[in-house]
Amino acid sequence: MLHCFSHMLGIEPLTAEQIALILEQAKALQEIQQHPLKKLATLRGKTAALAFFEPSTRTRISFATAAARLGADTMNLQAEASSLRKGESLLDTVRTLDAMKPDCIVMRHSSSGAPHFVAERVGVPVINAGDGTHEHPTQALLDALTIRDRRGTLDELNVAILGDVQHSRVARSNIHLLGKFGCRFALCGPAMWLPCELESLTPPGSTIRRVPRVEEALEGADVVIVLRVQQERHHEPGLPLEEYVLLYQLTAERLQRAKPNALVLHPGPMLRGLEIDPAVADGPQSCVLEQVTNGLAVRMALLLMLMLGTPQDASDVVKGASHAAD
Ligand code: CP
Repeated sequence: MLHCFSHMLGIEPLTAEQIALILEQAKALQEIQQHPLKKLATLRGKTAALAFFEPSTRTRISFATAAARLGADTMNLQAEASSLRKGESLLDTVRTLDAMKPDCIVMRHSSSGAPHFVAERVGVPVINAGDGTHEHPTQALLDALTIRDRRGTLDELNVAILGDVQHSRVARSNIHLLGKFGCRFALCGPAMWLPCELESLTPPGSTIRRVPRVEEALEGADVVIVLRVQQERHHEPGLPLEEYVLLYQLTAERLQRAKPNALVLHPGPMLRGLEIDPAVADGPQSCVLEQVTNGLAVRMALLLMLMLGTPQDASDVVKGASHAAD
């Protein structure tokens, strides 16, 4: 059995084995990104509907490119230019897309749980491309692929997560994912962005500490995940930005507290000079662009797993592709 899920709505319900399986499939697809001929025909005749009700650069383009590299077509909902502006509901909008017979719906929405709501009401697989402050499963998977490539393992790493954890679906998905591999988390940011309930997110074998000082959070870290300050989700008066920079920005000097070869991840978009010093963002420990490249392999793997009628191993797809290119 290659997989046993019909949607990709979040990391929380997945087992470590299922996550490892997705990463194995993605691994096989990484080499396609380096190949001079990147286009396969495996999903020819299939269509992915991209329904982004919130802005996105990386995730939307990555899914569109992943679909194109597998030979699939895409339908694109431009939320700003759609009949949502005329008052059409979410449900009517996705039912309209569904009536055009896509083979999956990739969806981002500002409301937590919106993709789950849709998945119960349409007849095709739904992939969550980020829902409110809940989960961003493909981001966590591409982060995991990046960490595993560089570190060789996901097991029992020390992971520092810096910044606006409360509003971060990336943080939640990463805690669910890396927690299943026994990672230990140090969360650091302004107290109002580090709610106590985060401590209950981790599975047995993993731990979460809320740490007030960034230097302490970074001590001995294998991986540092820097989060964007999500001003669009802040309803309460935030910390003055100059104070945030002073107390929490990841600088080269602070990064020295982490292990010498610690990885620096940021999901993007980065606010250079706010949560991260440009010298770190562009420095040798930064994995930011590798994350973007790995996003293609992860999303190709998921599209294959969910859109093909019959399970097929990604390595067979790639082998078939190199024969076709010869
Ligand atoms: N990381 C991420 O979700 O980026 P976008 O908002 O640009 O898709």
